[in-house]
Amino acid sequence: MRLTQTSDLWWKNAVVYCLDVETFKDGNDDGIGDFRGLTQQIDYLAGLGVTCLWLMPFFPTPNRDDGYDITDFYSIDPRLGTLGDFVEFMRTAKDRGLRVIADLVVNHTSDQHPWFKQARSSKDNPFRDWYVWSDTPEPDDPKQVVFPDKENSFWELDKDSGQYYLHSFYKHQPDLNVGNPQVRDEITRILGFWMELGLSGFRVDAVPFLIQNVSPKLPDPHDFLADLRAFMSRREGSSILLGEVNVPYDEALTYFGDGNGTELTMCFDFIAMQRAWLSLARSEAEPLASALRERPKPPKDCQWAMFLRNHDELTLDKLTDEERQEVFDAFGPSPDMQIYGRGLRRRLPTMLGGDLRRIKMAYSLLFSLPGTPVIFYGEEIGLGENLEAEGRMAVRIPMQWAPEGGFSKAEPDREMPGGAYAPERINVAAQKRDGDSLLRWFQLLIERYRECPELAWGEKRVLDCDHPAVLAHRCDADGATVLVVHNLSDTAADIELTLEGLAHCRLTDLLTDAVFDVGEDERVELPLDPHGSRWLRASAPDVPPEDASVKSQ
Ligand code: GLC
Ligand code: CA
Repeated sequence: MRLTQTSDLWWKNAVVYCLDVETFKDGNDDGIGDFRGLTQQIDYLAGLGVTCLWLMPFFPTPNRDDGYDITDFYSIDPRLGTLGDFVEFMRTAKDRGLRVIADLVVNHTSDQHPWFKQARSSKDNPFRDWYVWSDTPEPDDPKQVVFPDKENSFWELDKDSGQYYLHSFYKHQPDLNVGNPQVRDEITRILGFWMELGLSGFRVDAVPFLIQNVSPKLPDPHDFLADLRAFMSRREGSSILLGEVNVPYDEALTYFGDGNGTELTMCFDFIAMQRAWLSLARSEAEPLASALRERPKPPKDCQWAMFLRNHDELTLDKLTDEERQEVFDAFGPSPDMQIYGRGLRRRLPTMLGGDLRRIKMAYSLLFSLPGTPVIFYGEEIGLGENLEAEGRMAVRIPMQWAPEGGFSKAEPDREMPGGAYAPERINVAAQKRDGDSLLRWFQLLIERYRECPELAWGEKRVLDCDHPAVLAHRCDADGATVLVVHNLSDTAADIELTLEGLAHCRLTDLLTDAVFDVGEDERVELPLDPHGSRWLRASAPDVPPEDASVKSQ
């Protein structure tokens, strides 16, 4: 692998940082985050080491689904700033070497979008066919309803016209009909517009919903994704589509397109994420190890995106009922922590009981697992949640910059947590000055991750390990090897591993100053602290570890 290649396919070892402009930093003292505030914090993000920002929806919206209900795809919600502010932000991000992607929410619009207002005004309005209508919708499968606390059907009767419209999510979010070529053209125009303003791609919301239930049926719904990808490649070859595709592995694989990756560039790995939580709950490596073994290899230029938490509920829908209950029991036993019967509305540190060692281990795992790590703002400081907030809003709290909050000079629009997770206890300013803080740990992990392209690019192998609580995996690329071990339990563990092809090699721990030698029988013994982790670079004893990296080639 050559360095030029690693930057051409930049997404393969990117560090993606998801944030909502509204909750990140208020630049005009009205209590609501905005682009001016975000722009002030660009140096913080660059200093953290992240390489790509993912902005949650920032478009005009009645805000009934936190901005995922859009009324205009071509502008900025006035509460967050102006297009001028957006362009200044993009320029500043680019200046600091940060790429920016944004949520592309085109499965549906708000019911207040002018297109839907037109569409529902009469059956023969030209916009009617931009949405999906039925006189006699198929009966719903209640298990499929996404927000069962608010909805009980995918169809809503539009009284005036007497027909039902499709809504995969809330009833105020009618589904767009990508069976209509005009809609497909318009979506392409939206992509083109934001790419022209400098975006490097999109996080595509609700992908499986987008291409199903369209009218007329597309010969192959995947052709639409392939068309979008082709369009983007013509405009800007290095742009990406990162898909929200919560389906089993074999089905997820189809969203990358054919062998060359002709549809989505990356898919979130919802399976490994859920099994990781099961592993954490049990302090056992096997659930996660099995996911990594089962996970299909994506096409050459594509990549899985790894995450532990995001802005939604921690969904556990792909676990069995018993497994889900285990995670609930361990990390969210009280009913107000649970949501939709399938998930938890908490952030990671509270779920792990505020145990810093365990929290650090969980993030070491995230950054070293094969795939591109995606973090949700505030994870780097261990932000908590506000269970008083409604539903999924619990985790979407203002960023905590300083002991007094630092998010806004005004009273923030959204409440911050109290107690152990209040800004006085958890904030950026304090953690910057504390060498043992979670923030410093993130910086170290990100730096090492970027220095070890083997993790992102290499051949991955989960190793047999004689200890049930320890996950050991290795990544090999161009003759270079990084070995990673994690102890998921709260007791120390001494493990022994067989490392094929590494007899007589030296293993240098990249997170501490330890060194281990592999025997002539290819075996090595490694001690691990409770919740300890080691990232180890293999080198011949007479070669400095830095020179054993693929980067030197
Ligand atoms: C996706 C988003 C979620 C949103 C939904 C409807 O699942 O992640 O936040 O509510 O789509 O747009
Ligand atoms: Ca503001």
